[in-house]
Amino acid sequence: MSQTKKKKTLLINILFAFTLVGILLFLSRAPEITTPSLPHDDDHNRFFSMKKKVAGQLCVECHLPDDVYEIHKDTTPNTNRCLFCHRRD
Ligand code: HEC
Ligand code: HEC
Repeated sequence: MSQTKKKKTLLINILFAFTLVGILLFLSRAPEITTPSLPHDDDHNRFFSMKKKVAGQLCVECHLPDDVYEIHKDTTPNTNRCLFCHRRD
């Protein structure tokens, strides 16, 4: 390899390293999770072993659309998505 080509490769590698560090910093600054997760109680225990989309259909038995839509008025939740935000942890 010629000298200039070597320098170019080195420069590209340095840029690559900086990009990786930048991405890691960006990810580590992500905000805390504030969405309440699925409670562990008699009302919710059965949902922990169900498929997300099946369980989601049952949430509205208790979380009536009027209440749920009032809380989520910015997002209009779809019952397929409840458990993507309200994590089961
Ligand atoms: C049998 C009735 C019932 C069903 C079905 C039900 N919930 Fe609930 N849920 C409740 C009640 C009552 C509360 C309030 C008391 C509590 O926090 O447990 C609640 C509270 C919650 C909370 C608030 C927890 C907090 O920390 O503030 C979330 C989130 C939630 N439910 C999500 C869901 C999701 C998602 C589903 C469907 C997978 C679901 N619920 C199905 C009765 C139910
Ligand atoms: C896009 C993400 C998202 C989706 C989808 C979603 N939620 Fe939520 N939900 C939130 C957030 C964020 C809050 C907290 C709102 C607040 O406290 O102001 C919340 C709050 C709640 C609460 C009240 C918790 C409390 O402490 O009072 C219940 C109950 C709830 N969601 C049930 C549901 C159900 C049932 C579905 C599906 C139909 C659903 N959510 C879909 C993000 C979501």
